[in-house]
Amino acid sequence: MRSYSLIAPAKINLYLEIIGDRPDGYHELAMVMQSVSLADWVDLRANGIEQFRLSCDSPEIPADENNLAHKAAVLMAQRFPKAYAQFGGVDMTLHKRIPVGAGLAGGSTNAAAVLVGLDLMWGLGLTRMELQELAAELGSDVAFCIGGGTAIATGRGEQLDPLPSVDYLWVVLAKYRSLPISTAWAYKTYRQRFEGTYARDTDSLQQRLERVHAGPMVGAIAQRDGSKIPELLYNDFERVVFPDYPKVAALKQQLLDLGAAGALMSGSGSTVFGLAHSQARAEALTAALREQQPDPDLEIWVGQLIAKGIHLAP
Ligand code: C5P
Repeated sequence: MRSYSLIAPAKINLYLEIIGDRPDGYHELAMVMQSVSLADWVDLRANGIEQFRLSCDSPEIPADENNLAHKAAVLMAQRFPKAYAQFGGVDMTLHKRIPVGAGLAGGSTNAAAVLVGLDLMWGLGLTRMELQELAAELGSDVAFCIGGGTAIATGRGEQLDPLPSVDYLWVVLAKYRSLPISTAWAYKTYRQRFEGTYARDTDSLQQRLERVHAGPMVGAIAQRDGSKIPELLYNDFERVVFPDYPKVAALKQQLLDLGAAGALMSGSGSTVFGLAHSQARAEALTAALREQQPDPDLEIWVGQLIAKGIHLAP
């Protein structure tokens, strides 16, 4: 086929622990990542010329060669030069719904969609593992975005272990439009403020990873215990973001006060999410939050935790 429309879901983190720093300058993480129904659409159309062209309906996002989606296409052309020569380039259009600087992996999931889309368009038949290896070269969250669902992510975030689906839970996502947070800033600040605590923990890296695998969040997901999951949400980044962005901390407290089963900041922020046990409760939570905060700068989405990553649009 010469064109594909893909759905690229956002992710949240149900659990995020920064375990330590790594020789490559990145941080060693232990996370539980989760796809949500809030998603971008990524259209790919063969253009018959040896060039990748990107456009985007959001003025906030540069649609040039620095965009991760464009980098994904270039990586595919480098790795599969015969297919690129045979099929030519692609016009890529990003229809954005996932906000920027949000901790929702918006850029990563767009790049994942380009990898999956070109694999289909060029008939490469890459395995999930092969796609994830390419994805890891582009960014730490891209590998998860390929298959999505619910997974333990370790290493830089690219080492994945699937978990049973938690698609029985609903989510309310809230973000101040004017408050993007840079992931690089969040890691740098975390390191400056808490580097000393890495050294004080005498457990080895392996022991700490085993602790997460054996920990209560993974246990609750494995046992399909929906009542426990919201109580076990955890994110180390709140320790750096909340003191500097008190509005984000207040938003989490507000979601809890309004009856969210649990609430957490996602990734490096600034999105905060609240979990609910039904669609009706998620919608009631949204309505209550909107009533309390009519501020148009606050964007709110209702969605579901979903069991899939990149998939073809219906
Ligand atoms: O891998 P990615 O490009 O998404 O990472 C963005 C930034 O976040 C990196 O430049 C790095 O500063 C930081 N990072 C990190 N440790 C990770 C993942 C990301 O320090 N595990």
